[in-house]
Amino acid sequence: MASNAVPLKAVCTRDLYRGFAGRSVLSGIDINIAPGEFVALLGRSGSGKSTLLKALASLDHGVAGSGALHVPDNLSVVFQDARLLPWRNVLQNVTLGLTGADAAGRVILAEVGLQGRESAWPVELSGGEQQRVALARSLVREPELLLADEPFGALDALTRIRMHALLRELCVRRRPSVLLVTHDVDEAITLADRVLVLEDGRLIEDLTIDLGPERDHGTPRFGEIRRHLLARLGVGFH
Ligand SMILES: Nc1ncnc2c1ncn2[C@@H]1O[C@H](COP(=O)(O)OP(=O)(O)O)[C@@H](O)[C@H]1O
Ligand SMILES: [Mg+2]
Repeated sequence: MASNAVPLKAVCTRDLYRGFAGRSVLSGIDINIAPGEFVALLGRSGSGKSTLLKALASLDHGVAGSGALHVPDNLSVVFQDARLLPWRNVLQNVTLGLTGADAAGRVILAEVGLQGRESAWPVELSGGEQQRVALARSLVREPELLLADEPFGALDALTRIRMHALLRELCVRRRPSVLLVTHDVDEAITLADRVLVLEDGRLIEDLTIDLGPERDHGTPRFGEIRRHLLARLGVGFH
């Protein structure tokens, strides 16, 4: 279908570059993310994933490039560790820096399954519960863009699977654009509309995941996509 309309973009970078001491870590990065789109960024350790995420989060003032770097003002970041303030309770951590947000904080805490834990201290929570608080803290701000850097990397496998279901559910309900950095191929295929692969600071793959909302790891198509992405990451099967 032909259309002259320019699609709205939540994220747009053109020819993004980042080097450290003359060594190129990211180069020629062009990314578009549509409003409400869920994109996963895969890459081996050291490929530049966190550097790219920090650039998009405007946490890095050293990025350069000939083109644009456009991100919404209203964005939130989630890291691998929950980074909760130990002297604030759960609800206070979620609403940190906001005023009049207690009601919204309670709603989102219920959505992440922590109803009744509002007064708990971070030290009283498991790792998975702490990450749910961190997600709630990000989403209560109703970000247009959620940037997540291996947010489930420190969790055990079962908790991670539960967090995947939770994140999908929250994204369907709240529709932020998402860039999820991960090195877990199955996590990327399970969650994302589209998967990018970064290798030595360059994007080498941009794959739309043509699976329905129910993503059964056991289907042949899931297996095909997994093999393809693993091959792009340099992991072959013999
Ligand atoms: N502040 C920095 N100073 C120098 N080198 C850095 C800095 N941050 C990242 N790097 C280098 O950039 C490369 C990519 O790092 P990073 O983005 O953290 O990779 P990833 O998240 O994919 O594991 C690595 O070689 C790393 O050493
Ligand atoms: Mg990293």
